[in-house]
Amino acid sequence: MAYSIETRCIHGEEHNCPDPNHAISYPIYQTASFSHLTPGHNPNGFDYSRESNPTRAHLEETVASLENAADAVAFSSGMAAISTCMDLFSPGDRIICTLDLYGGSVRLFQNIGTKNGLVFSYIDTSDLSLVEQELKAGAAAIYLETPSNPMMLVTDIRGCAELAKKYHALLIVDNTFLSPYFQNPLDLGADIVIHSGTKYLSGHNDTVCGFLCSSTEELAAKFRLLSKTTGAVLAPFDSWLVLRGLKTLAVRMDRTEENALKIAEALQKCPYVEQVRYVGLPDHPGYEVNRKQSRGAGGMISFTVDTVERAERILKNVKLITFAESLGGAETLITYPIVQTHKDVPEETKKILGLSDRLLRLSVGLEKAEDILADLFAAAEG
Ligand SMILES: Cc1ncc(COP(=O)(O)O)c(C=O)c1O
Repeated sequence: MAYSIETRCIHGEEHNCPDPNHAISYPIYQTASFSHLTPGHNPNGFDYSRESNPTRAHLEETVASLENAADAVAFSSGMAAISTCMDLFSPGDRIICTLDLYGGSVRLFQNIGTKNGLVFSYIDTSDLSLVEQELKAGAAAIYLETPSNPMMLVTDIRGCAELAKKYHALLIVDNTFLSPYFQNPLDLGADIVIHSGTKYLSGHNDTVCGFLCSSTEELAAKFRLLSKTTGAVLAPFDSWLVLRGLKTLAVRMDRTEENALKIAEALQKCPYVEQVRYVGLPDHPGYEVNRKQSRGAGGMISFTVDTVERAERILKNVKLITFAESLGGAETLITYPIVQTHKDVPEETKKILGLSDRLLRLSVGLEKAEDILADLFAAAEG
């Protein structure tokens, strides 16, 4: 019988201890290379840690299990994973993207992808007729974030997957915001799932990593060849940190979501908050689609305050909450997307999206919700 996701966060696919010495915490194989018994033969299949390493392999098997993937490859950052994914494509290939994407992805696509001959079309992917129009014109792939960073736009993954199949394109979903605990895009028909494992998967703001999860052995073989050839793989110690973080993924995601809902509801009642974007609020335009395709709303909230001065005051005065980039850790972080994570997004796109200098993004942590709220209100009103 298949274990539930809560159990797989701790034990992986099967609870048969993979360590030959039966260690409970999987060991860190801090080695670059492995000896061979006979030419070309190591009995456990390990040669060199750029290609594969037991600690990383154990992590990859666990993440593949959480995403119901044929395989998962661990990279040294989320951006290394996205960059390797782009290596699947050839000059002239066109990729349809959610208009609202993590700024680092936009920077990669505009600076490196474009130089390599790829073409990117940014559209509102929540409108499936626009997606179909682009596919008809011959796109090679759809690249989604749902909910998106930082505007929390929701796209229908299953709808996009059906269209992608019809027009022989790949569907790629960055699943960083909800994590596999709340959402499994491969089960909805996606071909590739990306994670910045820096965020919820590791969960402690202590390491940078990324994953490419593939739906088929064919895609998996391509990613294995690319990762061992270009080499931006995850080191053994960092692999162990992520394995340790994953053990508490389920309890962390439940707590962050419980906190986020309380905070989003309190922000909605606040006179100087103009708009709250949280996919767990029933009046969010993507609420129904998100509810159908996921098991939760996660812990990311964006909100717009009445004035730039108020936004700046919050960032300057918070004490418990930290003004910093990143998300998905135990600590609540507040980010100013316009000057931090989304600095490189074109002005025109920011204008269309409403990504203004009054927008703040909150990664709700695991502290007591009332303490987070008290800090936020004191900072805003102080
Ligand atoms: C949605 C999303 N995808 C990818 C990345 C890039 O990941 P990393 O910072 O691990 O390279 C980020 C980083 O913030 C992100 O928010």
